[in-house]
Amino acid sequence: MARIDGGRWLLLAAVLLVFLQMSWSAFEVTDQSGKVCIIANLSVSFSVEYSTKSGQQLAADFTLAQNAEVLANKSSCGKENASAPVLAIGFGAGHLLQMNFTKTSKLYSVDELTFLYNLSDTTVFPNSTGGKNEVSQKTNIQADLDTRYRCFSTNRMNMSNVTITLSNVTLQAYLVNHTLSGNETVCAADKIPTTPVAPTTTSQTPTSQAPTSPPQNPMTGKYNVTGTNGTCVLAHMGLQLNVTYLRKDGKTGLEVLNFVPVNTSFSGSCNHSSAFLSLTFGKTRLVFHFLLNTSTDKFFLHGVDVTTTLPSEAKETKMEAVNSSMSELRAKLGNSYKCNAEEKLWVTDHVFVNVFDVQVQVFKIDENKFGAVEECQLDENNMVIPIIVGAALAGLVLIVLIAYLIGRKRSHAGYQTI
Ligand SMILES: *[C@@H]1O[C@H](CO)[C@@H](O)[C@H](O)[C@H]1NC(C)=O
Ligand SMILES: *[C@@H]1O[C@H](CO)[C@@H](O)[C@H](O)[C@H]1NC(C)=O
Ligand SMILES: *[C@@H]1O[C@H](CO)[C@@H](O)[C@H](O)[C@H]1NC(C)=O
Ligand SMILES: *[C@@H]1O[C@H](CO)[C@@H](O)[C@H](O)[C@H]1NC(C)=O
Ligand SMILES: *[C@@H]1O[C@H](CO)[C@@H](O)[C@H](O)[C@H]1NC(C)=O
Ligand SMILES: *[C@@H]1O[C@H](CO)[C@@H](O)[C@H](O)[C@H]1NC(C)=O
Ligand SMILES: *[C@@H]1O[C@H](CO)[C@@H](O)[C@H](O)[C@H]1NC(C)=O
Ligand SMILES: *[C@@H]1O[C@H](CO)[C@@H](O)[C@H](O)[C@H]1NC(C)=O
Ligand SMILES: *[C@@H]1O[C@H](CO)[C@@H](O)[C@H](O)[C@H]1NC(C)=O
Ligand SMILES: *[C@@H]1O[C@H](CO)[C@@H](O)[C@H](O)[C@H]1NC(C)=O
Ligand SMILES: *[C@@H]1O[C@H](CO)[C@@H](O)[C@H](O)[C@H]1NC(C)=O
Ligand SMILES: *[C@@H]1O[C@H](CO)[C@@H](O)[C@H](O)[C@H]1NC(C)=O
Repeated sequence: MARIDGGRWLLLAAVLLVFLQMSWSAFEVTDQSGKVCIIANLSVSFSVEYSTKSGQQLAADFTLAQNAEVLANKSSCGKENASAPVLAIGFGAGHLLQMNFTKTSKLYSVDELTFLYNLSDTTVFPNSTGGKNEVSQKTNIQADLDTRYRCFSTNRMNMSNVTITLSNVTLQAYLVNHTLSGNETVCAADKIPTTPVAPTTTSQTPTSQAPTSPPQNPMTGKYNVTGTNGTCVLAHMGLQLNVTYLRKDGKTGLEVLNFVPVNTSFSGSCNHSSAFLSLTFGKTRLVFHFLLNTSTDKFFLHGVDVTTTLPSEAKETKMEAVNSSMSELRAKLGNSYKCNAEEKLWVTDHVFVNVFDVQVQVFKIDENKFGAVEECQLDENNMVIPIIVGAALAGLVLIVLIAYLIGRKRSHAGYQTI
């Protein structure tokens, strides 16, 4: 009796374990016969710009929610020659992320990534005007047939008012054995070592670029944007782009590019809560996107979009990187943000925009001049050293003075005794 009970418990535990693993396991698509054809495990975050009833532009940042699940009636294993496999993940109040797969004789790929979002979901889009919107884009997700695709690096996709960021991706379509293959196709971004090895970086761009070898600080440029109410972006800063990339020979290349202000053209646009500053230097373009946080009355850098052409030794010479979930260069409306220390703005793991000697003000600018200065934390920390040195010097002076006074008193006393 006890044995049977024990057996039962064991069975229950096993079922529970399987169940837990299933709910833990990522997304699976099965056909009518129960055969698994797609498995995907991934982190997804979204940044969506939308307008409110008052005409304001806001940005909503969110991730694939806990209740995310495969929508069986929108997913499919596809029919040979007739339709492609589809993974459809539903979450929140009517949001849908969908991947359409396609294959050739050797490869399979995510042909199109589609995101359908419900702007009436006020928990995600407060004060939104409502409605639905759909964006889609071709992807670079591709793997050999019968291997699992893995890409732990962040993969950002910019689609007009939506940025989708994929990371920690493991997936496979056209499964043969109900499970992921033991063989793996690793994406290019994962092959770049996170810390570039010294010898590969020293051999950087010996060809086209002028000697960039000791990366000097870039010169400070002066940039402005004029809106309907006069100047709406005023920025003085030195700009440096730092990109690590995969070369054709499999090694890591490094490109450090200083913007030369006289050769940099700029333009932009503003409304009352969103502003763009676009800078073009040669084949490189940087777009800064500033937003106004109306509840704190502060402006801040919300996004950076980098497009550039890498040296011909790069595996892929065209490069675009986007980060649209930043919160940098922040100051009160009417004030300016200032930082003498170098600031490294993270765009992706392989792309940094380094900003030097920056002073910036957005939206409210009186008489084309910077307002009151808000110094960055880095500078304030740097101030500590001069203060310590100053205090030490003052202490030294005091000690010398006291020593001098004591000495004078002694010698004075000496004279009196003689
Ligand atoms: C999904 O990926 C996460 C992070 O990479 C990992 O911790 C988790 O174990 C994975 N889940 C499955 C079922 O593979
Ligand atoms: C998305 O952006 C386009 C312009 O790029 C705009 O016309 C459209 O209204 C936006 N859609 C939503 C839902 O905000
Ligand atoms: C798909 O399934 C969901 C719930 O699982 C249901 O609400 C929806 O109406 C179904 N759609 C279609 C087209 O059958
Ligand atoms: C699909 O197309 C291929 C070649 O075009 C053909 O050999 C195969 O029989 C087709 N399969 C079906 C189910 O129609
Ligand atoms: C993806 O596949 C579904 C189902 O076959 C189809 O309705 C949809 O139009 C496809 N979307 C794209 C962007 O190809
Ligand atoms: C939404 O609108 C209300 C009133 O119109 C306002 O008080 C609130 O701050 C707004 N929320 C956001 C996130 O803008
Ligand atoms: C990816 O997985 C690693 C290790 O499991 C984890 O530390 C990291 O936070 C994950 N990233 C995201 C965006 O989920
Ligand atoms: C499928 O499974 C069988 C036996 O488990 C194995 O021999 C075969 O290599 C597997 N095929 C693939 C593509 O993983
Ligand atoms: C992995 O790939 C190799 C070479 O392509 C192949 O010989 C091997 O059977 C594959 N293993 C699995 C588990 O698919
Ligand atoms: C920048 O300011 C100068 C001088 O005030 C002005 O001539 C120029 O048009 C401005 N440029 C832009 C893009 O607003
Ligand atoms: C460029 O970035 C790499 C890491 O991505 C870093 O090791 C290197 O110091 C950076 N160089 C500059 C000049 O910022
Ligand atoms: C311009 O100023 C007017 C009056 O102060 C204001 O209502 C309007 O929103 C401003 N426009 C922009 C784009 O800031």
